[in-house]
Amino acid sequence: MRVWLIIASFVVAASARHEEYEGWSSYYVVPYDFGQLEAINEIVQKYNLDVYGHPAIKREGLVLVDPANKKNFTNALDELNIKYRIHTKDMKAHLELEDKMFKDKVSPLPTRIGGRLPYDQYQSVQAIHQYMDDIAAAHPNIARVVTPTVSFNGQPMKYMRISTTNFQDTRKPIIFLDGGMHGREWLSIPPVTYAINQLVENVTDPDLLNRFDWILLPIVNPDGYRFSRDSSVTFRKTRSIIPGNQWSMMCPGVDLDRNFDFVWNTIGTSDHHCSYVFPGVAPFSEVEARVVRDILHQHRNILMYITFSSFGSFIMYPWAFDGSLSDHAFRQHSVGISMADAINRVKHPSFLPYRVGNAGLIRGSGMAGTSIDYAHSVGVPLAYTIDLPGVFGGYWMDPIWIEQVVIETWEGVRAGVRRALATN
Ligand SMILES: *[C@@H]1O[C@H](CO)[C@@H](O)[C@H](O)[C@H]1NC(C)=O
Ligand SMILES: *[C@@H]1O[C@H](CO)[C@@H](O)[C@H](O)[C@H]1NC(C)=O
Repeated sequence: MRVWLIIASFVVAASARHEEYEGWSSYYVVPYDFGQLEAINEIVQKYNLDVYGHPAIKREGLVLVDPANKKNFTNALDELNIKYRIHTKDMKAHLELEDKMFKDKVSPLPTRIGGRLPYDQYQSVQAIHQYMDDIAAAHPNIARVVTPTVSFNGQPMKYMRISTTNFQDTRKPIIFLDGGMHGREWLSIPPVTYAINQLVENVTDPDLLNRFDWILLPIVNPDGYRFSRDSSVTFRKTRSIIPGNQWSMMCPGVDLDRNFDFVWNTIGTSDHHCSYVFPGVAPFSEVEARVVRDILHQHRNILMYITFSSFGSFIMYPWAFDGSLSDHAFRQHSVGISMADAINRVKHPSFLPYRVGNAGLIRGSGMAGTSIDYAHSVGVPLAYTIDLPGVFGGYWMDPIWIEQVVIETWEGVRAGVRRALATN
């Protein structure tokens, strides 16, 4: 409990920018084999550390470590001969530097070229929603915006339904893409808006519209995304609070990708509000997760669900909670390989090649209450988390990479949906 008190007091004191990261460091850590990967996960859990990027076998992850746990963390790694290196020694100074470097690159307002959303910077919630409304207004015969509700902080939850047959042709399988489930994963949003662009504005593959219907939810967690942009780049969860609950008020929010009602809060989560993987006080406590749930329930013919996240260059499928394989594992893997191959062929040389596999096995630990496990459990045969290519020097992916990432990711989606249909 002492650790939580320390973290909570930082959070409360965090009126000045990045004060909460005084004394923190971040480390690259790379396991040599599965045993080391599991050991890293245990250390992370023991000291309640924030995993910024997941390690995998022979692939570096990035872990943020608070001052009280630095020594314990490095000692534990040393003891097990696990390789690590400093990413940044002084997180606070580094975050301040990144603010200066990138401030001009974050535009609060859209700078639009015709209908197209530019991909040279991260767009605000408002800009993305405006883009979706404009697309729907310009293409009423195929595109519609649905706003089922608002987020905890009252921002609209918006998704697009794109169909040449207004979802009336039930033989057409549905493809459901979402992004922005974690506030700080800014890069996970543009691949979804780019899909809108490629389906409606720049239609180079009419078969994708003729053979599929599409649901596109670019920002699952608008409150976390806004908070990450405006206040704390590293913020991950929603912004919900439970009035009267002091811990909740000190450490707002829930990890949305642990809030789904499938073996909820059984593994890879923490009951404490201040944890980075707090799954909420109940499954579907978060309105934002309920929006995803309702889409999954309302559409019985979803062939593929992809949630974009960052980072690591992984394509992962259920079951995430225990690393076991479902009856659909062969198909999940072969469609995953098609996506990885298509992206790896055109990816930027500085990005890691995509790895495909079961989510629990790639990460070396189970995660309960994820959206992919939930989607699969309610009958979506193909459900993927696509961890996009990663951050390099800092905590924030330079916007110069957005265009490259959206183009190569779309190559993967195109290949994946075609392969999914061919194996139907
Ligand atoms: C971390 O190390 C210190 C000193 O070695 C020890 O007193 C403390 O209990 C450790 N923390 C945890 C959570 O094990
Ligand atoms: C249109 O799509 C093509 C092929 O996918 C791509 O190369 C091009 O950059 C896109 N143009 C716009 C304006 O999005």
